[in-house]
Amino acid sequence: MPGLVSGQAPTEKLGGFDFYREVLGSPKYVVAPMVDQSELAWRTLSRRYGAQLAYTPMINVKMYADMSHTTFREKNFNTVLGEEGCPADRPLIVQLCGHDPEKMLATAKCLEAHCDAIDINLGCPQDVARRGHYGSFLQDEWDLIYELINTLHKNLKVPVTAKFRVFPTVEKTVAYAQMLERAGAQILTCHGRTREQRAQKAGLADWAKIRAVKQAVKVPVFANGNVLFYGDIEKCLEATGADAVMSAEGNLYNPALFCPAPSLPECSRDASPTSPPPMPTDGPLAGLLGLHPPHAQLAREYLDIVKTQKTPTSPSAVKGHLFKLMRPALGREKDLREMLGKAHINASKGPEAWAPYEEVVEEMRVRMERDAKAAGGKTLEELITYEPTTGLPVLPHWLAQPYFRPLPPPDPNQKAAPPTQKAHQVPPAEREEAVQCPEETGCPQPPASASGPEPEALPSKRTTEGDEEESDVKRAKVA
Ligand SMILES: Cc1cc2nc3c(=O)[nH]c(=O)nc-3n(C[C@H](O)[C@H](O)[C@H](O)COP(=O)(O)O)c2cc1C
Repeated sequence: MPGLVSGQAPTEKLGGFDFYREVLGSPKYVVAPMVDQSELAWRTLSRRYGAQLAYTPMINVKMYADMSHTTFREKNFNTVLGEEGCPADRPLIVQLCGHDPEKMLATAKCLEAHCDAIDINLGCPQDVARRGHYGSFLQDEWDLIYELINTLHKNLKVPVTAKFRVFPTVEKTVAYAQMLERAGAQILTCHGRTREQRAQKAGLADWAKIRAVKQAVKVPVFANGNVLFYGDIEKCLEATGADAVMSAEGNLYNPALFCPAPSLPECSRDASPTSPPPMPTDGPLAGLLGLHPPHAQLAREYLDIVKTQKTPTSPSAVKGHLFKLMRPALGREKDLREMLGKAHINASKGPEAWAPYEEVVEEMRVRMERDAKAAGGKTLEELITYEPTTGLPVLPHWLAQPYFRPLPPPDPNQKAAPPTQKAHQVPPAEREEAVQCPEETGCPQPPASASGPEPEALPSKRTTEGDEEESDVKRAKVA
């Protein structure tokens, strides 16, 4: 790699806590890297609602380093239109995946001027990562990982960071994290699930392992996994000692996850202050619930961002977001769900192209306002129900809220499930549309603090809207 590689880290760049404080501004609330979902428009929305740092979706260096793939490059990080990585899109960490140090460095060099750090994905457990030899499938090749990190550490103007999954034992997890630190990683994001904890076996993230990592390294540690509600953030920070929490699915279902209730005016510039209901200030829900705006309002706001920014957003990303945001109501508004599923966007038409999605969102807004009005007079506590097996609160269907997946249907080869599990099987309509979704994620599970049965008793199945997840899978394959 003539001209690219040098033997020492540039002396002027800050590292570890200096970098975390002085460059990133000590963020506590972090939007995770998400294929086809942590794109510019979503980052913008999330920042409006309290996110203090965001990661790009992972970018595959095998493709990016090849200069002939200009379309791939522009789609993954648009450096031409000047919005991605601009001051409004900071602080920003660009995530890369791959196994070739030369290609990793060449890609990082192209992007380092547009971000605050380059992250290496060491966590992806999907088959696509197995085939591409990246993500968690590097977990057993410590020399290679060291070289990847160290090459970037020594040759970039910005710091390198790493996001990884835990091992089955605390000892190995800690030794691994220390190796990543020695190699030059300036922030470690620890996803508290193992490589094997994916799809139906996702289970809960292990906060104790994250805590052990935090205690064993000197660089900042971000905790990832099990954050569904606002109240989980402090619980996670307390339990792990981490410097920040990173959220993926919690953020996708409620981009206001990081906003306390009822401080809407502080968190959102655009949202109507009349819309979100005040959350309980005492009782069991106090402190757990944060800001849960009406989802149709969030969907509208997101579409407006997509329409007004110059940087194109992929229709599959937008559809995926709309399905997730409006999920609490799409089960009952089946015609809108079908409309959204079938809507086709020709993005080359400009802002008008999004009209089919806008129609769905507008109709959803009208129906949700109707329902909220019909419930007028009742307090939020009266409207909240509790999911029977987890004890987690289910908010009225017009409000953005986390999605915790139902249990899988019983395995006919197994003994009959206990009654609580039986009561919580996937409803038939959803089962029909069930498709596999990105296995990287780890299902949202009840936080460790949630009342209800032990976490181990709560296996989950990744079932959700076909169109949404299909697009995720397609994008993951591209990446
Ligand atoms: C749609 C989706 C796409 C994801 N893509 C990536 C990715 O590109 N890189 C990565 O490191 N993790 C990716 N993840 C994993 C998340 O960053 C995160 O580690 C995981 O979902 C656990 O966090 P959570 O419990 O907050 O969802 C993705 C997750 C989701 C839901």
